[in-house]
Amino acid sequence: MSGSGATVALVLAAGLGTRMRSKTPKVLHPIAGKPLLAHVLDTCAAVGARAVLVLSKESEPDRALANGATVVLQEPPRGTGDAVQVALRAVTEQAGTAFVLYGDTALVRPETLTRMRALLTERGAVMALMTADGGSDNAYGRVVRGPQGDVERIVEARFASADELRIPEANLGAYAIDLAWLRSAAAELTMNETGEVFLTDLVAIARRRGDTVAAHRLGDADEGHGVNTRVELAHADAVLKRRIRERHMLNGVTFVDPESSSVDAGVEIGPDALILRGSILEGTTVVGSGTRIGPYSIVRDTKIGAGCVVEASVLEGATLEDEVRIGPFSHLRPGAYLERGVELGNFGEVKNARLRTKTKMHHFSYVGDADIGERVNIGAGTITLNYDGVAKHRTTVGNDAFIGSDTLLRAPVTIGEGAATGAGAVVTKDVPPGMLAVGMPARSIKKRTPPKK
Ligand code: UD1
Ligand code: CA
Repeated sequence: MSGSGATVALVLAAGLGTRMRSKTPKVLHPIAGKPLLAHVLDTCAAVGARAVLVLSKESEPDRALANGATVVLQEPPRGTGDAVQVALRAVTEQAGTAFVLYGDTALVRPETLTRMRALLTERGAVMALMTADGGSDNAYGRVVRGPQGDVERIVEARFASADELRIPEANLGAYAIDLAWLRSAAAELTMNETGEVFLTDLVAIARRRGDTVAAHRLGDADEGHGVNTRVELAHADAVLKRRIRERHMLNGVTFVDPESSSVDAGVEIGPDALILRGSILEGTTVVGSGTRIGPYSIVRDTKIGAGCVVEASVLEGATLEDEVRIGPFSHLRPGAYLERGVELGNFGEVKNARLRTKTKMHHFSYVGDADIGERVNIGAGTITLNYDGVAKHRTTVGNDAFIGSDTLLRAPVTIGEGAATGAGAVVTKDVPPGMLAVGMPARSIKKRTPPKK
């Protein structure tokens, strides 16, 4: 059976997910920084399957995630079998393999699906299930086998007898099915007494027809972990994050106390990076090789070059070139751009500003909406007054300038190349290159004598 022809994936995401107790559709809840459904669609792409996504009116917001998948509406949702019947109307391919995946079962690995597809051919089966021992106390459908060990049917936990509930083998909710067979068998699915059509009844239909159903029995049920409640959402998040950390470790990243750190699915980390305890890497973050993050740093949508140090700091939407040192307790906000060799110390905040190469800002400063030159020293307590209550204004500081401690730079203002400000200066007018400005408001009093290097 199967093996050749098209590969399609029917992704079921029309269920209401009422047990989440949320205004947000279940499959839109994120794990490792991405909606459950996005993970499932990534898996479809990884196995080369064209995805047909089943949504309902309630889960319609998920359409934004569809990302090229064909979307069909199941209205009203009448169970997983009904969802597949609806999905098949959007499948033009006649022969091949159909994967059926649940939008709430996001941890299925591409390798597992490929293995299940191979089982169809190897066993001459019409359908392959993904199963695992789930223990006796769980909500999964149970896999009922005959005396010879053949898969005979799946019984839903809520309809199972006490004996059936003791069956440890659980149906995890991912299937590889011969497409032509699915077309004819799905038409035979009927509504049960609760008004639902169960996809899992396909197993009994196969049995009646004398067709074989194979089971790919996993050693670890986590891969088939379906999310129905927020408790299960947290568990799926933890499982996926462990998997992500292990992938990075195998690629050459050291984690110290790995359980304490969290890395989103989309994050890239270079070899020989060191992630110390309590670090959170989110979104589209990229970490260069040999860079040390943490302990206790939060890095969101930020590009960090190689050989950097980011200790106990918060970075969002920032860019760091190589060999930048940050923290402890620095805060980079969107648009912060630190060139090679920049150093930022405790309580340094940078927003929408470029600090050019080798500039240092070691203590208690705020630089926003600014362009700071190369090798500038920003003294403790320097603040750019970028906001006059109405509009934001820019501050420009030339190369090799020296900003004295406690300087206030009232934007728009420019400090010329090689200029300096005295301690406590309140700069309201431009300081020409090479001049020293002091006082409140600061006046340029003489040519600056730069220190001998
Ligand atoms: C289902 C299986 C059960 C298995 C479990 C694994 C059936 C009948 N039962 O149960 O054997 O152990 O998954 O997690 O399939 N959906 C639709 N339309 C609907 C109903 C559901 O698209 O009308 C989607 C849901 O959005 C969800 C998926 O199908 O993503 C599974 O539905 P759910 O109600 O969670 O099924 P379970 O009760 O968990
Ligand atoms: Ca479920």
